[in-house]
Amino acid sequence: MTDTTARRTAEMHDANRRSWDHVSGWWAEMRDRDGLWRRCPEEPELGFAGGAFELIGSFAGEMEGKKVVVIGSGDNHAAFALAGMKARVTSIDISERQLETASARADKLGLEIVFARADATDLEAITDRSFDLVCSTNGFFVWIADLRGVFREVRRVLKPGGYYVFYDVHPFQRPWKDGTRTVEVDKPYWQTGPFIDEKEGTFEFNWTIGDILNTAADAGLVLRRILERPAGDSSFWEGTSYLPGKNGGLLDWKENPRAALPVWLSAALQRPV
Ligand SMILES: C[S@@+](CC[C@H](N)C(=O)[O-])C[C@H]1O[C@@H](n2cnc3c(N)ncnc32)[C@H](O)[C@@H]1O
Repeated sequence: MTDTTARRTAEMHDANRRSWDHVSGWWAEMRDRDGLWRRCPEEPELGFAGGAFELIGSFAGEMEGKKVVVIGSGDNHAAFALAGMKARVTSIDISERQLETASARADKLGLEIVFARADATDLEAITDRSFDLVCSTNGFFVWIADLRGVFREVRRVLKPGGYYVFYDVHPFQRPWKDGTRTVEVDKPYWQTGPFIDEKEGTFEFNWTIGDILNTAADAGLVLRRILERPAGDSSFWEGTSYLPGKNGGLLDWKENPRAALPVWLSAALQRPV
């Protein structure tokens, strides 16, 4: 990466950090309304979607005592779930405010989690080869200008044989305008950003499957499984709440054509032994 690209990435990520710091208060109130975070330690499957929970079980195995880092941890559903499974969890987010909320919630739940502020493209506080599992979840890649940086760091911090399991919004959901009744193209699949939100001051990216998996391969990670799944609940199509949706018909592609395409892309990638 040239110095100019590195500087531009840092500027965009810093703008995203400021925006997350800014919205963190109302985001926390919204999440308190659905309250999913309270349930994750006891019902860890709720901390994941897109089959990622099953990928962790079948590839990384039993979590008790394992060292896990969740990057771009946000609501920390995955971190709370993994801590409930007795993993030793580190939670990384770029936003101090997001971490403050998560840390206060972890205290309420009696969970011991290490919270650290860092950009996922620069995990300098974490030593090489120290984690059994790296996770990222729903709505992580969209904030990342430098996928190469993320996969380089993931590979670096994983122990040989360790896994990176992620689930995220499937790239095939990105080209469409919002809405569920008709499918209308908003932009080509290959237009990946940055998409600038002048009001929020953010920079978002809609990476393709090739962008994600080829960059992982270039970093030296080996793909063990890829899953492409529909939404498990109509709430996915109804807004941001994790409470059960009200219109199950939205899961039917005849009512909601976008349901004919996968909504989650999940993968298990391994650092070779
Ligand atoms: C919509 S949340 C989604 C994350 C999480 N999967 C969740 O479900 O809450 C996005 C989170 O990513 C964090 N984030 C954005 N850019 C980041 C970066 N470059 N490195 C680490 N975290 C980042 C934000 O601060 C925010 O907490």
